[in-house]
Amino acid sequence: MGRRALRKVDPALDLSRHFREATDLPTQFDVQSLFGRPAPLEVEVGSGKGLFLSAASRANPDHNFFGIEIARKYARYAAARLAKQESTNALMISGDALLLFRQWFPANSLAAIHIYFPDPWWKKRHKKRRVMNEDFLHDVERTLVSGGRLHFWTDVEEYFQTTLALIAQTVKLDGPLSVSEKPAEHDLDYRTHFERRTRQSELPVYRAEFKNG
Ligand SMILES: C[S@@+](CC[C@H](N)C(=O)[O-])C[C@H]1O[C@@H](n2cnc3c(N)ncnc32)[C@H](O)[C@@H]1O
Repeated sequence: MGRRALRKVDPALDLSRHFREATDLPTQFDVQSLFGRPAPLEVEVGSGKGLFLSAASRANPDHNFFGIEIARKYARYAAARLAKQESTNALMISGDALLLFRQWFPANSLAAIHIYFPDPWWKKRHKKRRVMNEDFLHDVERTLVSGGRLHFWTDVEEYFQTTLALIAQTVKLDGPLSVSEKPAEHDLDYRTHFERRTRQSELPVYRAEFKNG
């Protein structure tokens, strides 16, 4: 499925508390310092329009949330959502999540990692660009606290099965734990925009959750 044009972010909106360029931040620093308080940290890779981040940060005020999005205009769009809801526990980083996992997140530092509908990179020669690759899975295992969760959902069955097999071969995580689909109670009652589009087109969503330790 392609992507629809993105609405413009209101230029009057102050994004300074909710948007950061990864390149403006030191390569090594205490990421929790960006929130002004330590709290269990959850990270989303590839936030798109930011529906998950805005809903999850509202529902879990005792956790801190980072969204990392490589496409700057989407990162700003998602940050605008957080700014409008005056979020104090979530912010968007514009940058490459794979690089930032390598540089920033220490071992045993993340309560959860969320990856929803990552780009499938259909062509065989492009598959090495997939986010769910061996190096990243080692970073997932390293950075999750004991009991921490990896959430992975996609609409691409081949990507789902390949990733589950790769996880089984590469890292020691308990799962896949099954995740049930819940009926949407309103028009935005979906984990992400891609989940909304997939389910509204009556196509299947493949969901898995893993637990560290
Ligand atoms: C298919 S979209 C899904 C967006 C959102 N998760 C959803 O379900 O609606 C995948 C997103 O991942 C982002 N992305 C791809 N590679 C990335 C990377 N290495 N780091 C951060 N974001 C990435 C893309 O720019 C895109 O916005």
